[in-house]
Amino acid sequence: MASQKLVDRYNRNLNYLRISITDRCNLQCIYCIPHERIIHLPHDEILKYEEILRIVRIGVDLGITKVRVTGGEPLVRKGVYDFLGSLSQVPGISEVALTTNGVFLEDNIQEIKAAGIKRVNISLDTLDRIKFKQITGRDAFQKVWAGIEAAHENGFDPVKLNVVALRGTNDDELLDFAGLTLRFPYHVRFIEYMPIGKSRMKFGPPLLIPEIKDRVQSIGRMQKIEKNANDGPAERYKVEGAIGEIGFISALSHHFCDSCNRLRLTASGQLRPCLLSDHQLDLKHVLRAGGSDSELAETFLKAVRNKPSDHNLTINDPAGVSCQMSSIGG
Ligand code: 5AD
Repeated sequence: MASQKLVDRYNRNLNYLRISITDRCNLQCIYCIPHERIIHLPHDEILKYEEILRIVRIGVDLGITKVRVTGGEPLVRKGVYDFLGSLSQVPGISEVALTTNGVFLEDNIQEIKAAGIKRVNISLDTLDRIKFKQITGRDAFQKVWAGIEAAHENGFDPVKLNVVALRGTNDDELLDFAGLTLRFPYHVRFIEYMPIGKSRMKFGPPLLIPEIKDRVQSIGRMQKIEKNANDGPAERYKVEGAIGEIGFISALSHHFCDSCNRLRLTASGQLRPCLLSDHQLDLKHVLRAGGSDSELAETFLKAVRNKPSDHNLTINDPAGVSCQMSSIGG
């Protein structure tokens, strides 16, 4: 039984670790990739799988029960399927989930399933093939859609679709996305665009959840679904007669920090107590300097002590976070 040492000053139990295993991605989404030349972390700066697994074991001893593997795009990293298998077998972890852009999903769904993954979140910002290429730089919409279907057919449940709402880019598709839930059992989640990092973009006035909700409401009667204790930040709804769900994630318009249960491990081995603060602790340094398990545990505890009560990213003042989303993993 895991202990609950990862309780912070505000009595939040941090039992969820999100792990970015690479800063590389096979797509170049307009809102995620820096405008200037992309500089990737050198190979040695990236945590090795064994290092990540050691960190996870220590995290589990302290109270982590759920992990999510992210990137960049996690499925571009060599050896990822074996790693996912090892991760699922760490005693004390009740759930290993994956966030992916879906391009490699169809071809590798069996490996992902065999590795013990039960949930996938797929980033999908448009249902239009041409627009997909404009947003991501790659003509891969059909591949991603096939990946989504493959995940569903292979029993992944729920299959969540992450839609970052971008004014002038995909705001004409909000209803189409919501409409998917009438035909498919997917969970479509609208996410407010967080203007962070060097790729921070101006898409016009921010497209926030109240407006998105307003726009999708014409689809039908939306019933609110009560949240479970382990649910993430999404406010959940079901349209009458739908087989899927709609979720709204309002990082800007309505901070949900008081229920945040997350820590993040970046590909370069930094432990971040808050997505939207550049403060981080260098776990890799402790580890590679020959740190003991208890020294590593102490770094976890320090991160927990330093977790801010709230982030300060607001609609009017997006400044403050210089780190790229692609290196933190969302
Ligand atoms: N704001 C909001 N969501 C973002 N994502 C990536 N960058 C941003 C951003 N700036 C999303 C991705 C992915 C999830 C992990 O985070 O689309 O689905």
